[in-house]
Amino acid sequence: MPKKIFDFDAEFKLGIEGVDNEHVKLVDMLNEVHNLIGEGRREEARTYFHETLTAYVDEHFANEEKFMESIGYPALDEHKKVHENFKKSFSELRPLIESLDESAFRKALSDAFTWILAHIGKTDKKYAAFYLANPPK
Ligand SMILES: [Fe+2]
Ligand SMILES: [Fe+2]
Repeated sequence: MPKKIFDFDAEFKLGIEGVDNEHVKLVDMLNEVHNLIGEGRREEARTYFHETLTAYVDEHFANEEKFMESIGYPALDEHKKVHENFKKSFSELRPLIESLDESAFRKALSDAFTWILAHIGKTDKKYAAFYLANPPK
């Protein structure tokens, strides 16, 4: 197998199947926006980013918060705040995406991508560690 530039499994698998599947889907969706822009399908890229991806981010955060609650994760409130802040910054990217400026759109996309990866690798990893250390009885 060729060496990957970015090894999702090694860096971002939390070891919780449902969550891992959602994270893979999030990254796939970001890639999809990137591909649409690359193919010059800007309108579709915008709609996809705004509607499909934004809705999925909300859905994922809600699922994750339910999961953290179900395992009695002590830092739930803190994690929820981080999600809220992200949703806020995500909505602030709106004007950049609405603008017809492609470089602004690409910047918005790469900011979203960087944030999501950093969040999974750092913040999400913490509840996974808690869960794995306190397995359900
Ligand atoms: Fe997550
Ligand atoms: Fe999270």
